Amino acid sequence: MDRFTAPPYRIKMIEPIKQTTLQERKESLEKAYNNLFLLPSEAVYIDLLTDSGTGAMSHYQWAALMQGDESYAGSRSFYRLEETVKEITGYKYMIPVHQGRGAEQVVLPLLAKHSDMYFISNMHFDTTRAHVELAGATAIDCVVDECFDIDTFSPFKGNMNVEKCEAYIKDLGRENIAGIIMTMTNNSAGGQPVSLENLRYVYALTQKYDIPLIMDGARFAENACFIKQREKGYDKHEIKDIAREMFDHADIFLMSAKKDALVNIGGLIVIKKDVEFFRECQGRTVPYEGFPTYGGLAGRDMEAMAVGLKEGLEEDYLIHRLDQVRYLSEKLRKAGVPVQYPAGGHAVFVDCKNMCSHIPFDQFPAQSVCNALYLEAGVRTVEVGSFLLGRDPKTGKNIESPFEWMRLAIPRRTYTYAHLDHVAEGVISVYMKRKELKGLYFEYEPKVLRHFMAKLKYV
Ligand code: F0G
Repeated sequence: MDRFTAPPYRIKMIEPIKQTTLQERKESLEKAYNNLFLLPSEAVYIDLLTDSGTGAMSHYQWAALMQGDESYAGSRSFYRLEETVKEITGYKYMIPVHQGRGAEQVVLPLLAKHSDMYFISNMHFDTTRAHVELAGATAIDCVVDECFDIDTFSPFKGNMNVEKCEAYIKDLGRENIAGIIMTMTNNSAGGQPVSLENLRYVYALTQKYDIPLIMDGARFAENACFIKQREKGYDKHEIKDIAREMFDHADIFLMSAKKDALVNIGGLIVIKKDVEFFRECQGRTVPYEGFPTYGGLAGRDMEAMAVGLKEGLEEDYLIHRLDQVRYLSEKLRKAGVPVQYPAGGHAVFVDCKNMCSHIPFDQFPAQSVCNALYLEAGVRTVEVGSFLLGRDPKTGKNIESPFEWMRLAIPRRTYTYAHLDHVAEGVISVYMKRKELKGLYFEYEPKVLRHFMAKLKYV
C-alpha cells in the first residue's frame, strides 16, 4: 500500500492560481480579521477549505450540461437523474434539492413528530446537527471509541457504537427517537468509513425498534471503496455492488451531491419505499426548495449530477482519490505531525490539541495553526474544533470540543501530488514552530454559526 496511483485523467482546462508573498498574506489575513472564511479566494494559493462543490467536472459532465431541460415542471433532466438514482440505490422515490442542508431542512422536521425527540448518529455533521436542533430535537453522537485514539490503526473508525446506541434507545424510549443517522463516511471523525458489518447491526437495531435509518451519504462512494479495501470478503466486489448493499441497509438516503456526485451544487432526498413519507417530503419541498422536479436546481445541474453520480463510483477514480489523501497524510505522519490515522476519505485531519497544548481550547489552537499555515504557504484550511462548536445555549460557556482539528480537505480531481508536496512542506514548517503560536480571542462573535463571520485577534 505504499504506492500512490497516478490520476486516471488528463488536464484539458486550467485555472491559474497565484502564490503570494509573506507580506501580502500578512495584509490579507489582517484584513480578514484572522478568519480564513473572510479571505477573498484570490489571496489563496491552494484552497483546502472544503471538498464540497470545489472539484472539477469531466468533459462528459460539461457536455451533459448543454442538454439541460429548464422546464419548471416535468423536466427531462429530472427523469434522467431519477433513473440514475434509482439504478444506483434501488430506492423508489427521489427529490432533487439545492444541496445537502436543503434535504435536511425538508426531511428532519417531518421525522421529529413531537417535541423533545432525539436523533442518534455515529456523528452529526454541523448542518445536520443545526437542522436537528431547529426541528426542536436533540442530537446525540455515538461513534466508536477507536475514533478517539488517533495513532492506532483501526479500519472503520467511523462506525456507530451499537451497544451504546441501543442503550440510548432503551433509556430514552423508542417513541422518542426520531431517527438514526449514519454519516458515511463520517466527516467529523476524520472522514472515517463505516463498515457494512456495522451498518447491518445498526439497521437490524432500527428494524427491531421500528425507527427509520437515514444515511447521510455525501461521501457514500468513498465509503464503498474503503469497504472494498478494508472489509473482509469484499475485495473482489464491484464498488457499485457494495454501494447497493449499503443502500439496502437504510430507509432514507440524504445526499450533498457537492461531494461524491462530482458537481458544484446539488443534493438529493431518496426514499426506499414509503410513499406517504415521500409525499410529505414533496409537500415540504415546494415552499423551501422548489417544485419537486427541480428542487432548487437548474435542469443542467441535474444533468451534470446524473453523469457525476456514475463517475463517482468508478474504481480507478476512487483509488486515486483516496490515494491523494493517504499521500498527504503519510507525508505528515512521517514528519511526526499528529494526524488521524489511518487517513480518511476526503481530508487529512491534524490534531492541534496535541500540537499546541500551550493554547487553551477557548483560544482556539486549531484556528491558530490554520492561520499559521496560511501565512507560511498560502494554503487555506478549516478549523474543526472548539471555535466551530460554539457555546452551550443554556450556560453561555464555550464548549470544549473532544478534538481540535485542522482539516485539510482535498477537492476532487483538482490538485496534483506536487501541490500536496507544497502543502506538506508548509504544515511541517508550522509544526516546527508550533510552540511559538499564539491563541485568539473574539473581537466580534456572531450568535449563530460563529466561525463563518467571526472577527478574531491574537492574545
Ligand atoms: N452531511 C455531511 C456529512 C456533510 O459533510 C455536509 C457538508 C452536509 C451534510 C451538508 O451538505 O454543504 O451540501 O449543504 N459538508 C461540507 C464540508 C460543507 O465542508 O464538509 P451541504
